[in-house]
This record gives sequence, structure tokens and C-alpha cells, in this order.
Amino acid sequence: VIVSSQNMASSVFPKVTLSNGLQIPILGLGTSHRGGYSHEAILHALKKCGVRHIDTAKRYGCEEQLGTAMRKSGVPRSDLWLTNKLWHGDYGYKAAKQSCLDSCSRMGVDYFDLYLMHWPEGQQNGLSNREVRAETWRALQELYDQGVCRAIGVSNFLVPHLEQLKEDCSVLPHVNQVEYHVYQQPRQLVEYCREEGIVFQGYCPLAKGQALGDPTVLKLAEKYGRTPAQICIRWSIQNGVVTIPKSTKKERIEENCQVMCFQMDEEDMAALGKLHDGRHVSWDPTHVK
Ligand SMILES: NC(=O)c1ccc[n+]([C@@H]2O[C@H](COP(=O)([O-])OP(=O)(O)OC[C@H]3O[C@@H](n4cnc5c(N)ncnc54)[C@H](OP(=O)(O)O)[C@@H]3O)[C@@H](O)[C@H]2O)c1
Repeated sequence: VIVSSQNMASSVFPKVTLSNGLQIPILGLGTSHRGGYSHEAILHALKKCGVRHIDTAKRYGCEEQLGTAMRKSGVPRSDLWLTNKLWHGDYGYKAAKQSCLDSCSRMGVDYFDLYLMHWPEGQQNGLSNREVRAETWRALQELYDQGVCRAIGVSNFLVPHLEQLKEDCSVLPHVNQVEYHVYQQPRQLVEYCREEGIVFQGYCPLAKGQALGDPTVLKLAEKYGRTPAQICIRWSIQNGVVTIPKSTKKERIEENCQVMCFQMDEEDMAALGKLHDGRHVSWDPTHVK
């Protein structure tokens, strides 16, 4: 369900309501490792573009810098939605709890708005992936109960992983963050998440740039007088999917944020819907038992 926002800080982007009542801005800014972080770009996003949702992970190695940028921006912590992720090297009950607290202290924050298990596979001697996932989730549930994480979720989980977690644990994930762009449209998974009350969040909305030269995307960019990136991001949003494009360039962040002032026709949404070819530009969890 997409609702409009009330206060100024979040007036730019609509929000999607989680099963626990929290509201996540439908558009966030991604960060990543290997050149995926820019201090100036974060400041620009927060101060000039109205971005109030940032996605990071321990894996991306920019927690400290990002924490500093958030404070420098002057935007109150309570106006920001901050997602962080637990790397699978830190799975297991004890390690997971410690890793979350360490991430909080590296970022200089008391809580995360959303904390995700980054990947469905956990390498631990003698335990199956399913057992490791359940043990790790137990830690996340406790972090949630303690208020260290205001919402908890998973990433790259497919239906069988979610079904097992449902059998093994008492709290369902609030969010599942999965690769989602015009070439990767996991419709069954989206449907399953919606039926279970799990918010589906998409990453790599531009297919890491691959979708930007697609003839259909280019044609629609011309039709609507928008850029290819805006067409891709708008397509996610119009499908009700929370999306987190990444850029380290100020002008591209501005461009990527200007997606709330136009609407694509149904036939054009359908044309983009036909571009699915199943390719992954990030990692593919299909083989993970
Ligand atoms: N949970 C997971 O396992 C997982 C996996 C992958 C990604 N993610 C999250 O999703 C976020 C986005 O994914 P992503 O960065 O892999 O892919 P993406 O957002 O689809 O694409 C980012 C790429 O497109 C470029 N770009 C951005 N805006 C552009 C524009 N307007 N015009 C032209 N090029 C543009 C960026 O370069 P510049 O930076 O040079 O602008 C970057 O190379 C990540 O930052 C991360 O937060 C999560």
C-alpha cells in the first residue's frame, strides 16, 4: 500500500507501509563497495534532493563515512530511513547480534530502521543453511524486540527460503530485498511476498546500467521527455516496488529523484513488463538450498 507523506522531510517520496506499521520511503539511495560511495553525493542527496532513505551494508565498507555524512547533512536521525545488512560471514546467533551492534557503533547510530540478512547461505560447520538462517533470524528477532532494529528482513531470499523461515520462526520478515529491474522480474516471488505481508524491495533498478540502452526504454524516454534511468525507476515505483538506485554523481542522483512528476500509461508499463529475460546483474540465489 502506498500512502502519501505528511511532513516536510519526507514530502518528496511516497511511503510503503510495513506489516508492523512503519513506513519506508519508496525511493532510497544505494551505496556499494568498489567505488559505490561518495561523501559529497550523499550530502547532496540528503540536503538538496529530499532523499530520506539510504541503503548500505557492512559488506560495502562505508559505514563510518556514511554515518559521518548523515550527521553532517543536518537531517535529524528520526527523519531518515537507514537500512543496513548483516554479512553472511557473521551469521549464527551470537555473531549476528554482535555484528549488528558493531555496525551501529561504526555508523554512530542507536538503531537501524531496517536490518537485513544479506544472503540466504551461511557457511557454518555441521549446520545446514536452513539451521543457520533460523539461528541468525532468532538474533534479528531479539534485536527487533530490543528496538535496535525497528524492522527486520532478508535479502535474496526465494520462496523456499521464506517458507522454511516461516516454519522455523515466529516473526516473518518485514521486507525482502531482491534484484528487480526490467530484465529481472520475479513475479511469483513478488506475489508471494505480497500475500505474506512482506514488503518487496527491488535492487539494481537500472540493471547496473544495462537497461539504459534498451530500445523500449529509450523509446519511452523520448515519449515522456525523461531519461532512460527515470523510466526504469518510475517503472519500479509504479509497480509499487521500493527501489534504491545507486549513483555517486550529484547530477545523476538529482535525475534519479525526479520520478514523481510523471506517470506512464498502462500499455507502456506492459511493454516494459515484457522485457524480462531472467538475467541477473548481481548474484543469483537459485542454487542456495
Ligand atoms: N541486497 C543485495 O544483495 C544487493 C545487491 C546489489 C545491490 N544492492 C543495493 O542496490 C543498490 C543499487 O544497485 P546497483 O548499484 O548494483 O545497480 P543500479 O542502481 O541498477 O545501477 C547503478 C549503476 O548505474 C549508474 N547510474 C546511476 N544513475 C544513473 C543515471 N541516471 N544515468 C546513467 N547511469 C547511472 C551508476 O554509476 P555512478 O555511480 O557512476 O553514477 C552505477 O554504475 C546498491 O547500491 C545497493 O545498495 C543490494
